[in-house]
Amino acid sequence: MKDSFGREINYLRISLTDRCNLRCEYCMPEKGVNKLKHADILSFEDLYELTKAFVELGISKIRLTGGEPLIRLGAIDFISKISKLDGVRDIAMTSNGVLLKKYAKDLKDAGLNRINISLDTLNEAKYEKITRGGSLNNVLEGIKAAREVGLTPIKINTVLIGGFNADEIPELVNLTLKEDIDIRFIELMPIGEAAEYDLNRFIPNSLVLEKVKGLKKVHNEDISSPATYYKLPNAKGRVGLINPITCKFCSNCNRVRLTSTGRLKLCLHSNREIDLKKSLENGEDIKEVIRKAILTKEEEHYLEDEKYISRNMNQIGG
Ligand code: GTP
Ligand code: 5AD
Ligand code: SF4
Repeated sequence: MKDSFGREINYLRISLTDRCNLRCEYCMPEKGVNKLKHADILSFEDLYELTKAFVELGISKIRLTGGEPLIRLGAIDFISKISKLDGVRDIAMTSNGVLLKKYAKDLKDAGLNRINISLDTLNEAKYEKITRGGSLNNVLEGIKAAREVGLTPIKINTVLIGGFNADEIPELVNLTLKEDIDIRFIELMPIGEAAEYDLNRFIPNSLVLEKVKGLKKVHNEDISSPATYYKLPNAKGRVGLINPITCKFCSNCNRVRLTSTGRLKLCLHSNREIDLKKSLENGEDIKEVIRKAILTKEEEHYLEDEKYISRNMNQIGG
């Protein structure tokens, strides 16, 4: 399915829930988020209807996000169902990894292909602090389980935060030496809890290239990826830099997002949403609604719009 700028839209990111079992300082308020009313959340039946329509229109890559997607009961059955849809080529998940040890095998059996895991530090005490109570060991065991069952390639997403983890850059990069794991550094975005952060907490990820000499740029076959990839000589994995704000990959953008409340978001940086849940409830021709909506996808985002993103990351799923 093409948008009005000729971009092939083939990637759907579905946020299964805005809730999370962690409370990362920059993402979630300490007390968590107000629980959405059951009736406001898309049921798995409706979600399946929507996903099927998207796939019939040409979506071939699906990523499940959150909050934390693994805390929504029924997520594994849902993967099992959508993996059988004709045309689905890749099903991936972005997770904090806490529940991964428990579910890795079931996820693989259900048809999940691979997983990206959020991990901002390799230090147990710092992990507990930034996530407000999480256990690093759970995540490390989760990564190991994911590798064992073949949820690969594994990518680790690390949000760079001034005064918190910049000192760990070399150690994090070194993970790619022994393991076939990609590590991607993401610049902190001033949204959600981070909207009020001091300027010194926002650091450019070019710091990674300054701190680790020897990283060489490598070709990335996926031109729609937000990451630019590098590699250390003889490393097994790659090092990716994601700059969600200044790096504009809009001209290659292939993705749209669906929130857990059934709103279609055509651009991460825009507040415009289309209520697909309502369209379903009104019995509208959902494929027609989606096709028309895709034609209104923004050409690009503008930096000055940044401060106006009204949803938090836990609602959008990155
Ligand atoms: P792969 O399919 O493995 O390449 O995953 P991905 O990078 O699409 O997904 P992931 O959920 O791991 O995304 C990592 C981060 O990339 C997100 O948390 C965002 O910060 C950033 N990102 C993802 N999509 C977009 C986008 O459309 N625009 C911008 N500017 N940043 C994005
Ligand atoms: N800036 C950048 N990334 C963020 N994430 C959450 N909040 C922010 C933010 N303010 C990341 C998480 C996870 C992904 C879903 O989004 O760390 O990797
Ligand atoms: Fe949960 Fe991810 Fe937000 Fe952390 S960053 S609180 S793991 S949604």
